[in-house]
Amino acid sequence: MLKTKTVAWRRSPLLESATPCQITVDGHLIAAVAGECLATALAAGGYVALGASPGGRIRGVFCMMGVCQQCVAEVDGIIRPTCMVVVREGMDVRLSLEALS
Ligand code: FES
Repeated sequence: MLKTKTVAWRRSPLLESATPCQITVDGHLIAAVAGECLATALAAGGYVALGASPGGRIRGVFCMMGVCQQCVAEVDGIIRPTCMVVVREGMDVRLSLEALS
């Protein structure tokens, strides 16, 4: 698992009254907030590298508006741009980092 903790991400104070939940990322439970952006939840959980190109370059969040597709991951069995997914309890996320190992 490639997990980066070099960037300090904080959730918006607007989410403080929101419902906490847990999601699974590559088999690891992380805390999230129901209704927040999945890409943000992943970053807050330390997952900045979300995948790798066939050549081994790290992919991660870039545009945050569903255009670049650099943030795609398997979410509940479907490949989706994580910046366009709303977090809900029990979500199962699988990253594609095999090319980096
Ligand atoms: S960051 Fe570009 S599609 Fe998600």
